[in-house]
Amino acid sequence: MSAPRAVKGMHDLLPDRTAHAAWLEARFREVARRWGFGEIRTPVVEPTELFVRSIGESTDIVEKEMYSFVDKGQDALTLRPEGTAGVVRAYVEHAVWTQEPVTRWIYMGPMFRRERPARGRYRQFHQLGAELFGDPGPYADAELIDMLVTFLREAGVADVEVLLNSLGGPEARRAYRHALVEYLEPRRPALSADSQRRLASNPLRVLDSKAPEDREVVAHAPRITDFLNAEDRAHLDGLRAALDRLQVPHRLEPTLVRGLDYYDRTLFEVRGRGGELGAQDAVCGGGRYDGLVETMGGPPTPAVGFAIGLERLMLLAPPPPPPPGTDVFVVAVGAAERLEAAVIARELRAEGLSVETDLRGGSLRSQLRRADRVGARLALLVGSDELARGVVQLRDLRAGRQREVGRDALRAAIRAERSAT
Ligand code: HAM
Repeated sequence: MSAPRAVKGMHDLLPDRTAHAAWLEARFREVARRWGFGEIRTPVVEPTELFVRSIGESTDIVEKEMYSFVDKGQDALTLRPEGTAGVVRAYVEHAVWTQEPVTRWIYMGPMFRRERPARGRYRQFHQLGAELFGDPGPYADAELIDMLVTFLREAGVADVEVLLNSLGGPEARRAYRHALVEYLEPRRPALSADSQRRLASNPLRVLDSKAPEDREVVAHAPRITDFLNAEDRAHLDGLRAALDRLQVPHRLEPTLVRGLDYYDRTLFEVRGRGGELGAQDAVCGGGRYDGLVETMGGPPTPAVGFAIGLERLMLLAPPPPPPPGTDVFVVAVGAAERLEAAVIARELRAEGLSVETDLRGGSLRSQLRRADRVGARLALLVGSDELARGVVQLRDLRAGRQREVGRDALRAAIRAERSAT
């Protein structure tokens, strides 16, 4: 058998990249804490029906991209393709509205979609998401978007602009859908094969197509914003005014639609602007979904949220500040001192220091070379003569200085050396 490989479109994160991912997750938690959000974790596997009902039967995700299976108990299950459906299920299952009028949750974790792998598009990817339940007003949207933009900036993405649109309520969407089909139908032959298919099943998705022939047709299509009723319009205007006041850069993009059916009113997206993401340019997508909680069996509950693609964010954001690194490298001068070197290392680790050793042994030179490679500034040389006297040699690897230190004074000596730089 040839060596096993990771599943296509699914990737290992080696420590360098894990450090970046973990740093971004920590920043996200920190920003969310300032906005009053708690963290929820939901299962990676949910009943297939949950995603069909929430994301929508005629979406690409449900039609083509879900990892669905029947388990040994004959239950139809799916690896979650996104986070909102599971979070809404949990909100309803735990009747959270009975405990608080407004709920703010973040979540993070792996999502699965069987898409064609490309730069920034994977079959297992990770999202950092936020959902806010219970507030119907435009200021909730604005506050959430402000949190998103603050986080992206703190993650190191300087140039952020939010693209906004409104899908209106069910009434506006019905009227718009009708007008759009009326416009597109006579132009059907000019559309891509995919869009011709979508015209029947989900015509709004034609607006989202990246095919140049579709873009041309769509450029002159009727705009959803012309179909909004007075309340939809007031919501959109209120949101834009709030974003202006909060100094969040934003732009109305009337062709913006999204690949999930649960949205109404506010839609938004943040895209990479430097071309780092290629065709997969959305680093974040979100919007309002005022009908979903009720569809899932809860009371009518307005809600709004977003999710950031962690891998796409890692393509846009600079690497995090370097970690503190190794404080001390403990070197066993001879084979006989290896065990005692390990004991000293352990004592120092118990004090909170980052300590490396090379317990394979090897020459003094090769161990010092290794100390250099891991970036240690200090080395402790543990020799038999020193051990007998209860001391070790503490060497500053950059200055080349070395001095003898009693084992009981080691911690203080190391701290003094570290603070001297
Ligand atoms: P979405 O637009 O499908 O929305 O996904 C959100 C983000 O996840 C995208 O902007 C992108 O950065 C990332 N993403 C999606 N698919 C992939 C992929 N195959 N590979 C890498 N990254 C990907 C949602 O999932 C909604 N649940 C967002 C939301 C939350 N709306 C309201 N609340």
